[in-house]
Amino acid sequence: MNTTQHTATQLPPASRRLPLFGNLLSFRRDQLGYLQQLQQTYGNMATIYVGKAPIVLLFRPEHVRYILTENPRNFTSREVAKNLGQLLGDGLLTIDGETHRLQRRMVQPAFHKKRVEGYADIMVKHTLDMLKNWHEGETIDITRAMQELTLRIVGKCLFNVDLSDGFGDLGSSFNAMISNPVSLLEGFFGLQIDKPFTSYGRRMAAKRTLDTFIYQLIEQRRADKQDAGDVLSMLLMTHEGEDTLTDTQIRDHTMTFVAAGHETTSLALTWTFYLLSKYPASYEKLLNELQSVLGSDTPTIDNIGKLPYLEWVLNESMRLYPPAWTQGRRATEAFDLDGYHFPAGTVLLFSQWVVHRLPDIWEAPTEFRPERWDPVSGQKIPQWAYFPFGGGPRMCIGMPFAQLEAKLLLATILQQYRLQLVPDYRLQLVPLITLRPKHAVPMTIKAASSNAEKENAIEARV
Ligand code: HEM
Repeated sequence: MNTTQHTATQLPPASRRLPLFGNLLSFRRDQLGYLQQLQQTYGNMATIYVGKAPIVLLFRPEHVRYILTENPRNFTSREVAKNLGQLLGDGLLTIDGETHRLQRRMVQPAFHKKRVEGYADIMVKHTLDMLKNWHEGETIDITRAMQELTLRIVGKCLFNVDLSDGFGDLGSSFNAMISNPVSLLEGFFGLQIDKPFTSYGRRMAAKRTLDTFIYQLIEQRRADKQDAGDVLSMLLMTHEGEDTLTDTQIRDHTMTFVAAGHETTSLALTWTFYLLSKYPASYEKLLNELQSVLGSDTPTIDNIGKLPYLEWVLNESMRLYPPAWTQGRRATEAFDLDGYHFPAGTVLLFSQWVVHRLPDIWEAPTEFRPERWDPVSGQKIPQWAYFPFGGGPRMCIGMPFAQLEAKLLLATILQQYRLQLVPDYRLQLVPLITLRPKHAVPMTIKAASSNAEKENAIEARV
């Protein structure tokens, strides 16, 4: 990577733009396609303009490494995430610098391996409860089913509350907070009207309900002085020397975990079911692995690590449909990268969607091929060509939680059922902060065993 001093004052190449809007209209029309098209046209870097404000697009893994791990202190996400601050206060996503470093250290114990592993049984139990209400032949919206399931799991793991049991308001407030997201471009217009008919208004109403709930829960827990086994208890116990977290900090951290962790994980599951249904050969391989390793044993923390194909399936799913599809930063000081000199204040965007599909790195980039992740016979994957959880000091703190949850839920569901996308379904993507399907993803529930057995029978005959 060339990071030597250059005096070039020009930003990377930009495509033609309109006087008032810059490239905003093209970007809005098809964000994913537009970014890919710019990568194909300009190669390593390009510049787009929102009005008169430039945004530099970085397309190479080396750029991702430079920003996230080699020089992370020079890049802030605070301003990029400023809209989130209204909702999440000063949680990890919205703080920066030394405050971020200290706070991250304080909340880290809540995501230590042992603590996270302790949530495995909750994850499986809630999945089994959900499956009791599934019936062969029914068609469900898998996006919604995964959202409801992961929300219940979050409720239990974070707050030790059962959102399916008398917490209806709370469940819908969490949902309202998550499903009325801040659009990527909302910040540029700053249009925020606190009324029930606006997305912003619904978000703020949900925030008020949730705040009341969390502050009451914190008060109750402080009085009880007991470890309830959840993330909230860890946050109440954590300290750095004499310093402990205030009620507001605990509220901000837990809200951030719900916002950052719930929808991302449910989308990772949705995309995985979608892809498996599109690629029946991979589906069969996965069912066979589950059958031969687990048989009818319930997935647990001890057996879930013995399923390599499951892990490759998830890796591949988050390569093609990364739930967090883009990241943004603003440079606090001038820097040089790849032959360009960037002034302080430069806004940068680098996108998992683009880098995860670069044709010079990924063989058959648009194909779902879990086998590429095989460490022996798969393809060589350069570092930072794949970063679904970000990296460096701001790497996703919930990654171990999300990975465990995704594996356990997939294994538990697939042991019992096979999900098949309804014929003629046409996927349309909506890239907000997360990468979502525009419409419901309808899938029909079928028995899993029939296909695995069929495959085994075929293999036996060959
Ligand atoms: C498949 C699921 C998930 C994906 C794809 C994902 C992705 C990411 C990414 C890309 C970042 C980096 C953002 C940046 O640097 O700009 C991030 C940060 C973060 N994630 Fe996740 N995440 C997932 C699940 C979770 C879960 C389950 C939790 C918590 C329970 C969580 C909590 C956070 C937090 C708090 C941060 C901010 C970390 C910091 O700045 O120190 N995430 N996530």
